[in-house]
Amino acid sequence: MTTRPIITLPDEKTLRQVSRPVAAVDAATRGLFDDMLETMYDAPGIGLAAIQIGMPQRLVVLDLAKEGEDKTPMFFANPEIVWSSPEISDYEEGCLSIPEFFEMVQRPKEVKVHYRDRNNEPRELHATGLLATCLQHEIDHLNGVLFIDHISKLKRDRVIKKFQKAQKLGKL
Ligand code: NI
Repeated sequence: MTTRPIITLPDEKTLRQVSRPVAAVDAATRGLFDDMLETMYDAPGIGLAAIQIGMPQRLVVLDLAKEGEDKTPMFFANPEIVWSSPEISDYEEGCLSIPEFFEMVQRPKEVKVHYRDRNNEPRELHATGLLATCLQHEIDHLNGVLFIDHISKLKRDRVIKKFQKAQKLGKL
């Protein structure tokens, strides 16, 4: 397993890409899953999409275990939301690609997701709570969507400008 650099704003050219499905979860995919997991743990974070390390493949890793708890890594290939609840939930989101910025986001409270697991087995998951929020956030990444797209344009433009300025000043 290798830790890879995480792509952050202002690199929208990379982060806005739409990732392509994997044909099957093979040994190479599992290797990439492992690198994603190590990168996420190292950050530290609770979710990571492959595009965040520059790989435009529809792969997501999550681990919602709290500090001090046993690790519970989850692997999703080609995840697809097949149902969303009409009920909405609010959660203060952050993103490893937008460091040190947090904002309230509204999303469906529950989702049903179809995906392939680490062994290429087709699975269905009915997610609620933090898991539902994280899955939606990560699946957005696969479509080139960032959580700041769910907040006001004023706030979004402000945070993008902040990262563009930091890059110009050589602080990124
Ligand atoms: Ni993110």
